[in-house]
Amino acid sequence: MNETLDRNRPLPMYYQLKEIIREKVTRGEWKPGKLIPSERELSKQYGISRMTVRQALTELTQEGVLRRKQGVGSFVAELKIEQQLTGLTGFTEDMRKRGLQAKARVLRLEAIQPPADVVTALQISPQQPVVLLERLRMVGQEPMALEASHLHFPQVTELLEEDFESRSLYELLAEKYNIVPTKAKQSIEAALPNRREQRLLGLPGGSPVLRNRRTTFDQNGRPFEYTKSAYRGDSYVFYAELTVHPNA
Ligand code: GLP
Repeated sequence: MNETLDRNRPLPMYYQLKEIIREKVTRGEWKPGKLIPSERELSKQYGISRMTVRQALTELTQEGVLRRKQGVGSFVAELKIEQQLTGLTGFTEDMRKRGLQAKARVLRLEAIQPPADVVTALQISPQQPVVLLERLRMVGQEPMALEASHLHFPQVTELLEEDFESRSLYELLAEKYNIVPTKAKQSIEAALPNRREQRLLGLPGGSPVLRNRRTTFDQNGRPFEYTKSAYRGDSYVFYAELTVHPNA
């Protein structure tokens, strides 16, 4: 791999720099979490303007290869979670399987009057109690997703006493209330984050989120959860195995 920029190649300088950096990352020369040289250093090293360097770094950040931390610099991105779409699992379990420890910052835990979409998803009447649990889901210091779960079952208000910073919701529901997540309907949509999501998830400008909506049913077919999540677009790959329908 050519490690210098070639002005005779018909490729823009920023693009050539991107390829050099990408190569260092895929070869493992620059490991996840590494702080890479600053814009100034790269511009000096490769003899190009800081604007050109910035363009390369911005695109690599949008592509999820790098992550920027305000006032510090650019790092090689840490985590890319490949998430199977076929199994029904919770965040804690997903991370545990990868040898990672899930954490949460509880942003809201309150009883609410359910809005119309929640009423429909949970098949309840607007007078029935719903608990809203909003959590910033994290691995170490890295925010991964923002999730607002709307929950309903007979003893739901007891959840207001629970500490969800270190507890898995699914595990708690199964252990204490015998509510076992058994089936879910989920949609995924790409979107630009709003300001709050961008701030909480620490997303660089222009970086998308994946909006998930999940309705989860228990072993008796009752919907007990309707969750709206925003996953970091640069940290997740959703993966499904597809087979031809026998009658198609
Ligand atoms: C996923 C789902 C949520 C669910 C959560 C439970 O993140 N998208 O709908 O509430 O898992 O996770 P945990 O058991 O870690 O609380």
